[in-house]
Amino acid sequence: MNSTTDAIAVLRKELGGDICIMGHHYQNDAVIAHCDISGDSLELARHVPHVDAAHIVLCGVCFMGESAALLAGKGQTVHLPEPDADCLMSAMIPACLARSVLKQLADAGRNIVPLAYANTSLAVKALTGEYGGAVCTSANATTMLAWALERGDGVIFMPDKNLGHNVANLLGIPVDERHVLRIDGRGIIDSPSQPLGRKILLWPGSCSIHARFRPEFVEEARARYRGCRVAVHPECRQEIVVLCDAAGSTSFLIREAARVAENAPGSTLVIGTEENLVHRLAASHRGKCDIFPLSRAICPEMSKVTEKKLLDVLKDIAARKSEPLAVDKNLFEPALLSLTRMLEVCGN
Ligand code: 13P
Ligand code: SF4
Repeated sequence: MNSTTDAIAVLRKELGGDICIMGHHYQNDAVIAHCDISGDSLELARHVPHVDAAHIVLCGVCFMGESAALLAGKGQTVHLPEPDADCLMSAMIPACLARSVLKQLADAGRNIVPLAYANTSLAVKALTGEYGGAVCTSANATTMLAWALERGDGVIFMPDKNLGHNVANLLGIPVDERHVLRIDGRGIIDSPSQPLGRKILLWPGSCSIHARFRPEFVEEARARYRGCRVAVHPECRQEIVVLCDAAGSTSFLIREAARVAENAPGSTLVIGTEENLVHRLAASHRGKCDIFPLSRAICPEMSKVTEKKLLDVLKDIAARKSEPLAVDKNLFEPALLSLTRMLEVCGN
């Protein structure tokens, strides 16, 4: 234990049931050790309505805090230890640009349903709600894409083109029914040359952490750990996913590690996702199976949250000085609508 760890423990005792600390699985071990609830983005969102504490401290990136603030009860506040930690992919889709693109598609006569990955700003979620769409996470993107396809003549999947391709593959939607949009700062460019009539339109965004995995990493892992199993997060490019034994959300990868440890003791699992999670899984299943990261992959934004910043936000809450996350009142209803549509379709 260090002094920061001790100070957090003391403060937590003082604050008692007033505080619930939640953390995404990509947080480092020192932060996760303080979390009452840890989960992937879907699990965190699902837990929020059942939290009684007056203050939720969300250790993760900004969009996770915003989703928590939407789902929090009346009078409940959400605090981020590091408000500047922002998902790099969510920054690839400014809401005003998304609005222009949706308008261009509507003007072109398309009845397009937007499906927004949870890794988007509140304003993009609000726009999605306004246009009759919903949010999805990596854990339910297949269900939600099928849901969206039933509601229009096509879907725009925003902003992760890689997740969009991987989910379309799972639903058997051919590649020639998908199109990655070419966009500039004002909207869709050179419309006549783009096949905008396709069933799945993909926003040209990606996670730079997962998109950096390359096919040769999988080949090298298979050569180094003979007979290993390789599982990756679906934010990886589809060329990687097809080479792997399995792909799925953060919670899927956690279950996969437990399954391998239980059913195939002594075997090796290579996981392609954020490294903090992979190292934690390796430690928790040590002695049962070997788990290695596919490659170095640290999310710099998730890493901005530290134990020290967690202590600081707890001190501020105790001193009634912490600024809770504020939700623009014009965005609240439509953003909540897009999120609750997802929770209703996939079960609260
Ligand atoms: P999950 O939905 O699997 O938690 O993923 C969130 C994320 O940011 C992955 O990079
Ligand atoms: Fe965003 Fe990628 Fe970091 Fe996940 S790992 S929070 S998608 S930048």
